Amino acid sequence: MITFNNVTKTFEDGTVAVDNVSFTVKTGNLVTLIGPSGCGKTTTMKMINKLIPLSSGEITINGNNISNENAVELRRNIGYVIQRIGLLPHMTIEENVSLVPKLKGWKKEDYEKKVDDLLDMVGLDPHIFKKRYPLELSGGQQQRIGVIRALAGDPPIILMDEPFSALDPISREQLQDELKLIQKNIHKTIVFVTHDMDEALKIADELIVMKAGSIEQIASPRTLLENPVNDFVRSFIGEDRVRQTLINKEELQASAIMQPFFDEDSNNLFPTLFYQSSLQKVAHTMLLKEAETIIMVDENGLPKGKIEKNQLLQELAGLKRMVE
Ligand SMILES: Nc1ncnc2c1ncn2[C@@H]1O[C@H](COP(=O)(O)OP(=O)(O)O)[C@@H](O)[C@H]1O
Ligand SMILES: [Mg+2]
Repeated sequence: MITFNNVTKTFEDGTVAVDNVSFTVKTGNLVTLIGPSGCGKTTTMKMINKLIPLSSGEITINGNNISNENAVELRRNIGYVIQRIGLLPHMTIEENVSLVPKLKGWKKEDYEKKVDDLLDMVGLDPHIFKKRYPLELSGGQQQRIGVIRALAGDPPIILMDEPFSALDPISREQLQDELKLIQKNIHKTIVFVTHDMDEALKIADELIVMKAGSIEQIASPRTLLENPVNDFVRSFIGEDRVRQTLINKEELQASAIMQPFFDEDSNNLFPTLFYQSSLQKVAHTMLLKEAETIIMVDENGLPKGKIEKNQLLQELAGLKRMVE
């Protein structure tokens, strides 16, 4: 568990990069620090492995104040991945990945096995890749090596600073998927910096939204989407996404807005839908079948209510107003 208690960082020139920030990253969680450029994400992250000293407050890891820890020792137990990974160009992939295990005094057979396992894990055949040099790999492959190098010494904590942002969109999504899969098995405590909301929502257990050195909101992806605390967070998430979330929300099932069903309605051949369908589905069916009315039915196909097109449009417009 990583805990920030009222942490502030003021640089020598007076810039307050991080302003009285408090949060906790639970063991085994992947938390993203997200916010616009210059809001203090990197500074916050670098204070965890003591690349930047803090000005006031305290940071503890599993209850131990990091100010009492030796920086080199600390970093050996905290993996670190950055955008341009800085693989050592004159070392093979195998040598790059086994760097920390060797420093930790692992036996040769142990770190060799670890390198093979890690390469396998990210879909790079060890026989082909371990003897290669970084420049003989594509950008996406190099970044995979950056990730597994950070994992190699089995650190409980991993810091990742915009690790995928220099990649093309396809490689980037692949690496996000891989990271999610890997994390399912290894349950590391990961702090991941990004300015990309799609990325954060996809990979994070929890998001810490920052603005100008302060924290605006800490929430799970779902809570953030459903309850952004203020206009800044809302606009950073994106109006479209907030609106879509509201429309998709379980509470906004057809059953929540349907009208009573009268016998005379059965004289017409209206399309039917299960009464717990989403409003989105109702709207979609109306469009598809060019219907003015949909009859909502229960699991036995018996009518429970109906929804008229005008009413649905009003409902959706109401939602739109809520987020404007
Ligand atoms: N060494 C430094 N000296 C002075 N100001 C700095 C230094 N490093 C970063 N800053 C400033 O601190 C603020 C936060 O920077 P940073 O943590 O890198 O933001 P982010 O990672 O969110 O883009 C910015 O205003 C930046 O210009
Ligand atoms: Mg940064």
